[in-house]
Amino acid sequence: MPLIRTEKELRKQLLALTEPTSLGLVPTMGALHQGHAALVEKAVEENNTVVVSIFVNPTQFNNQEDLKKYPQDLTSDVSMLEAISPKIIVFAPSVEEMYQTNVSAKSYDFDGLENVMEGAFREGHFNGVGTIVEALLRLVSPNRAYFGEKDFQQLQIIKKLVASLSLPIEIVGCPIVREPNGLAMSSRNERLTKDLRNEASFIYNTLIKAKNKFGTKSANYVQEWVSNQFKKNPHFELEYIKITDVDTLSPVKKKQRNKKYRAFIAVYADNVRLIDNIALN
Ligand code: PAJ
Repeated sequence: MPLIRTEKELRKQLLALTEPTSLGLVPTMGALHQGHAALVEKAVEENNTVVVSIFVNPTQFNNQEDLKKYPQDLTSDVSMLEAISPKIIVFAPSVEEMYQTNVSAKSYDFDGLENVMEGAFREGHFNGVGTIVEALLRLVSPNRAYFGEKDFQQLQIIKKLVASLSLPIEIVGCPIVREPNGLAMSSRNERLTKDLRNEASFIYNTLIKAKNKFGTKSANYVQEWVSNQFKKNPHFELEYIKITDVDTLSPVKKKQRNKKYRAFIAVYADNVRLIDNIALN
């Protein structure tokens, strides 16, 4: 399987593809798990060639400690991808390759999607995500790019990015893959102790109960209820619980039949920050 380190080499490989071809891109930060694998498998199903990028993007980390501790294991990532399909090209550039000497993010306007939830609690995060994803989309020029609903706000922002730049790329959203106990798979789960990882089923279980309550109760009531559940649990500290419209990510004033809503949550378990979300209707 080709493991490519430079933009130049990647362009060369892509130019050498025999026509006609369809190209998929799956951007990742590595430490791959079954959640990533599901995106890659879908991309492999739908395209002749799939580029999987593995790059821990420094400009999207607002917390340097989190960046330092971000798990990396390129050897095991490559073996996982090899087992999925020979159609895959792995692109794992260095920070210098992607940013040269200027490791900074561009500034984007995503119509306010960037100012709430992850954007509000992780300053500059979506400028960093936008910068690297735009660079990868322009470099690879895929027909389709794949993103997980695990980071639902990111998915909506990437759709906005592609529309505002008029890039002819289909953005494909993929459902959240969970551990057997319901915890959303994440590279950061590796940093949890075994006990805490078991306890973390509480997050998804609470979201499911919130979904049930949302059938008959207001968004405010349900948010308050979730918040109280977390106050009673000594293992987790709730950062936010927000119920929003899926398109605008703005808070729900009054429920409307024709609108789709989701609940979004961010939680600290020890020093590990976990996010999750659930469709409410
Ligand atoms: P990363 O966290 O590695 O995730 C890469 C992709 O995998 C994202 O689209 C994410 O939503 C998806 N993913 C992660 N866990 C998932 C799960 N449990 N179920 C379904 N999909 C899941 O997200 C990033 O990297 C970065 O921000 C990136 C887009 C690569 C830009 O740097």
